[in-house]
Amino acid sequence: MSKPTQTQAWPKLQKHFQQIKEQHMQDMFAKDSKRFSNYSLQAGQVFLDYSKNRINQETMKLLFSLARDMDLEPRIQAMFNGEKINFTEHRSVLHIALRNRSNRAIMVDGQDVMPEVNRVLDKMSSFSSRVRQGRWQGWTKKPIKDVVNIGIGGSDLGPKMVTKALSAYAKPGLNIHFVSNVDPAHLENTLATLDQQTTLFIIASKTFTTQETMFNATRAREWFLKGAMDEMHIPAHFVAVSTNTSRVREFGIDPENMFSFWDWVGGRFSLWSAIGLPIALSIGMDSFIELLSGAHEMDEHFRNSPLEQNMPAVMGMLGIWYSDFFKAQTHALLPYSQYLEEFPAYMQQAEMESNGKSVTLDGQQTDYETAPVIWGEPGTNGQHAFFQLLHQGTRLVPCDFIIFARQPNHHPKQHRLLLANYLAQTEAMMTGRTKAQVLKEMQAGKRPGKEISHLLPHRVFPGNRPSNSIMLPELTPKSLGALIALYEHKIFVQGAVWNINSFDQWGVELGKELARVIEPELEDDLEVSSHDPSTNGLINVWKAMSRNKV
Ligand code: F6P
Repeated sequence: MSKPTQTQAWPKLQKHFQQIKEQHMQDMFAKDSKRFSNYSLQAGQVFLDYSKNRINQETMKLLFSLARDMDLEPRIQAMFNGEKINFTEHRSVLHIALRNRSNRAIMVDGQDVMPEVNRVLDKMSSFSSRVRQGRWQGWTKKPIKDVVNIGIGGSDLGPKMVTKALSAYAKPGLNIHFVSNVDPAHLENTLATLDQQTTLFIIASKTFTTQETMFNATRAREWFLKGAMDEMHIPAHFVAVSTNTSRVREFGIDPENMFSFWDWVGGRFSLWSAIGLPIALSIGMDSFIELLSGAHEMDEHFRNSPLEQNMPAVMGMLGIWYSDFFKAQTHALLPYSQYLEEFPAYMQQAEMESNGKSVTLDGQQTDYETAPVIWGEPGTNGQHAFFQLLHQGTRLVPCDFIIFARQPNHHPKQHRLLLANYLAQTEAMMTGRTKAQVLKEMQAGKRPGKEISHLLPHRVFPGNRPSNSIMLPELTPKSLGALIALYEHKIFVQGAVWNINSFDQWGVELGKELARVIEPELEDDLEVSSHDPSTNGLINVWKAMSRNKV
């Protein structure tokens, strides 16, 4: 089937939407005493309550028939079997092989990829323990104290998010820094307090051609040589993570100091590969393997569970319900954990670069919505910033609330407060507060009648705002691995049903090409007229401004 809109399920869902769109979730709970257990799932350590969604049994039945009409199940198997489902780049999609702890053979072009995967894991293991134990030394024989990962997009966001999330597991005294932006301030501010003798650089780039990374890497090498004075010291301070051996060699890094991965690992799904080296350095290889195991558990759940009990499938189809029928334009990720501060930014790339597409696999324009805008902040901070809109704004914003049940070594009372807020917000979004309730409350407070009628409409909450509640026992490498894999597979489900290629990213190319044209035009004082009037105008204003002529 080329488009989901051509399936039998689609018009049925449209009709069903008309019937259900005004129904309030509170009435749904009132009618079904088992709604919580009927609409919740456990997958390994991850618990999902999706009962606070604007759905009933018919909705889920129709959503799963849409998924089946779009061949979701065979498509899942195709990914796990190493088929080249990223057809625009002629590549398999096998981040699942990187964490295949069962070691079952996974074939690409007639070859099992697992021996290579395990070889790189062994290399990461021996390197990370040498650095962590102080046996990998800088040119003055001092142990490494600071690691700077230079990479961008998938070569930055994943390892940065996980390293931060698992900072409680980090080795004290080994500081991990991430430099991504081509803005020189990022590198300079990071290097300002570091010592060349005790700093190790990881140059992380799948292609080893990304402009930002290559510039920052070159400047980092210059900074290093200012202290070390001799290129012979580079091997002790620069390692590379890439698929491109010749470029790594050209840059001056010995391929011995290179950690490989493969074209079947998409950048935004690469934290499980050697791109995860900063994670292994920070938390140790045993914990890195635990991260992989958690993801593997979720992979097995995704591969083997029927759609009705399949957590990524349920979350993916709910997302489609809101994007395509309720026309929700955004989706908020709200981790109630400061450790997961970077999770929304990481998922932004994962979802929006994967499913921000408008052409089907067979090249037709979609006549339906695809990925929503993903955004979010940790709770409770978000409550004091944008939750006003979530509760009383004009837009419907489906939300995922994420929390860990236990937080060892932290203040239990404070953790209960966090949990109370997590629960209160989903309750408030669902129940809202009616006019009658507000009136009763204000009358009980003996407010003057005039004030009551004045304030009443402002204090009403419509409610009926959908959310998923995700709960995990504790933030560990294993549970985090499962959580990330859950979202990766949710993205897969949606891409399959929207019939788009979730694994290419042609949409980022045009801007890169134009920047390459514009950059040399900024070198001199000559007026530029080769672009559209706005771009010409801006370039010329910049030329005047940067020379203090404006
Ligand atoms: O420009 C987008 C992108 O290609 C991402 O998909 C990728 O994660 C990022 O750039 C970095 O690419 P690389 O790892 O090749 O430097």
